[in-house]
Amino acid sequence: MTEDNNMPKNDAPFASSEKPSLKLWGGRFEGEIDKLSAQLNNSYSFDCRLWRQDIRGSIAHATMLGECGILPEEDVRVIIDGLQRIEEGIGNGTLSFDPEAEDIHSAVESLLRTLIGTTAGKLHTARSRNDQVATDTRLYLREHIEDIDGLLASFQSTLLDRAERALGSENESPVILSGYTHLQHAQPVLLSHHLLAYFWMFFRDRDRLRDATRRLNLLPLGAGALAGVNYPVDRRRVAELLGFDGVIPNSMDAVSDRDFILDFLSSASIIIMHCSRMAEELIIWNSPEFRYVELDDSVTTGSSIMPQKKNPDVAELARGKAGRIFGDLVGFLTVMKGLPLAYNKDMQEDKEPLFDAIDTLTILIPALNKTIHSAVFNTERMKEALSRDFSTATDLADLLVRRGVPFREAHHVIGRMVRYCLDGKIGLEDLTLEERKSFSPLFQGGSEETASPEGSVRLRASEGGTSPEAVRKQLDLARDLFAGMLPLRISNT
Ligand code: ARG
Repeated sequence: MTEDNNMPKNDAPFASSEKPSLKLWGGRFEGEIDKLSAQLNNSYSFDCRLWRQDIRGSIAHATMLGECGILPEEDVRVIIDGLQRIEEGIGNGTLSFDPEAEDIHSAVESLLRTLIGTTAGKLHTARSRNDQVATDTRLYLREHIEDIDGLLASFQSTLLDRAERALGSENESPVILSGYTHLQHAQPVLLSHHLLAYFWMFFRDRDRLRDATRRLNLLPLGAGALAGVNYPVDRRRVAELLGFDGVIPNSMDAVSDRDFILDFLSSASIIIMHCSRMAEELIIWNSPEFRYVELDDSVTTGSSIMPQKKNPDVAELARGKAGRIFGDLVGFLTVMKGLPLAYNKDMQEDKEPLFDAIDTLTILIPALNKTIHSAVFNTERMKEALSRDFSTATDLADLLVRRGVPFREAHHVIGRMVRYCLDGKIGLEDLTLEERKSFSPLFQGGSEETASPEGSVRLRASEGGTSPEAVRKQLDLARDLFAGMLPLRISNT
């Protein structure tokens, strides 16, 4: 769009020959900025996505300036009307920002000037881009934390459903598989138990997001460039208008801290680390050697050369993209670590890692959710893998303990039994009573001595353990806490 045909007829702010500058500064400069310097300096290409937050922040700021008598009501009305027209016009595509703008703040102000003339220049009274950008970024992150929390909640709900199904019913026994340590068969566990472990990880992740938002939801605006402003502003009123819980108490801290972004990137890193672990398991379980799970066609791809291939790409990308988000965190920590107070342009480097982490999680969480939702667990194969796998060796040792043998000694006896079975290429479940007795006279027969996976899980009834009863209780608790964790709605505005 050209600036002239948008100029209010009765309020032409510029001499016709004078093209309004997009720059918000320039008075003290004689020379022009070098092209490459401008290219390096400009952030519009990525911070343009803050446009809604920028307008929202400006409307609140202008409202307060009017209420406090810093700007005449008439000017405020014109400014707010112009900002609302921009919001609507950008929203429906009838207006556009100048892509040459230095950043989104310049772009909004320059478009406002095109629409309402020189009054636009009054909007920046008692404000700096330093407190403005900190406010916009907090508003933006706030909304996206809410969204990411919702995506995690829906993933948790899938995990609860799958855990419930795998717990079986009256005529269907719970699904059992080997639990692993060191990726070696360790002890049998319920599949429900295994899935619920991830539920709890995401539970804490959501709690971390709540924790991060508590610190995030304070207002920087009113800090000015760094030292506060010399107008009788009402920061608390702006906070109220924007749904912040309060104001940041120190103007230098307000404009120079970015730990609210680091809080989020840390939480995001932990979230994707959890996703990546789950993805790694799915990849292993989906391999032909394991065949514990069959991933749905919708979350896999084929090979351009090997017709038989079905590759677990979504899971692999969940694992691979962890590298990006860790990079976002470590990269931005490194940007911040040497900066003297207060604002430094280095801090403009906060946005790309932030946006990248948000975008990555916004696609990844639902994709992994679908992967779990549509996965077919091969319960027969899980059962088969438990046979002759020695995962009930601890149970046999515990049996001897219950019959009076000190645990250390029992461990040794069963260790020798395992050795004997390995040599004879049999499993613990294949031993005859005579053979068992040769290791300890305390073996007297009885079903508990057959070391079945079902018997093993049944006895692990400690709170948080893998017995069907304990897992049922755990599932009930998970459902209760899940229901009690209300959607994250930081501001009601
Ligand atoms: N685009 C800048 C940023 O994101 C806005 C703040 C500019 N402030 C300044 N004093 N140059 O950090």
